[in-house]
Amino acid sequence: MGNVYASTHPLVNHKLTRLRDQNTDPKKFRELIREMGALLAYEATRDLAVTSRQVLTPLEETEGVELADRIGLVPILRAGLGMVEGVWGLMPNAEVWHIGLYRDERTLKPVEYYNKLPIEPRVSVCLILDPMLATGGSAVATADILKRWGVKRIKFVGILGAPEGVSQMQKHHPDVDIHLAAIDRQLNEHGYILPGLGDAGDRQFGTG
Ligand code: PRP
Ligand code: URA
Repeated sequence: MGNVYASTHPLVNHKLTRLRDQNTDPKKFRELIREMGALLAYEATRDLAVTSRQVLTPLEETEGVELADRIGLVPILRAGLGMVEGVWGLMPNAEVWHIGLYRDERTLKPVEYYNKLPIEPRVSVCLILDPMLATGGSAVATADILKRWGVKRIKFVGILGAPEGVSQMQKHHPDVDIHLAAIDRQLNEHGYILPGLGDAGDRQFGTG
């Protein structure tokens, strides 16, 4: 069973509260999504592989490390886009692959509208980036796509999860660890997370 982590870091919880606030404007909302993406990805990547490497400081030679894993960042359009910059800043050699999915408002099922993955993955670990794990349909579909593409190690990095989405991911992708800022109480009848933060795409792009 994949592990589920809800951050206990004070910075994450402070920023999450600002993100939830309905008075937070799109500019600040985007800034918070970017910063939280970086903080949560930092926590999610603590088990990446490294190899040793000698380094010459201005004073002497010493042993250091460098990342051995090749990382792919996979934002789910649209809302996942806002997390990319913060995470990419931490690992600038990562490749970024976009998957476009939207939730059908009636069925709440994900509809794929964009996918430009190359023929074969050149990465060993993929981080799926999407602030919201609600019914779990979008995250499950993205992990399905990445596994069909040949990726062996996948982690989901999000901001808020609902219990329904977490259990769907655990059921369909028990090998995928889930990193979130918090797991909220429940979904409402329209598939929105409660108490949540509203529509993460609309709040970033000002389209609400
Ligand atoms: C949101 C969110 C996730 C999805 C989560 O995207 O960014 O991708 O809903 O819901 P689920 O777990 O029930 O699948 P949305 O479909 O609203 O598209 P958008 O990012 O383009 O606004
Ligand atoms: N997508 C969002 O943007 N917010 C939710 O609460 C659920 C799905």
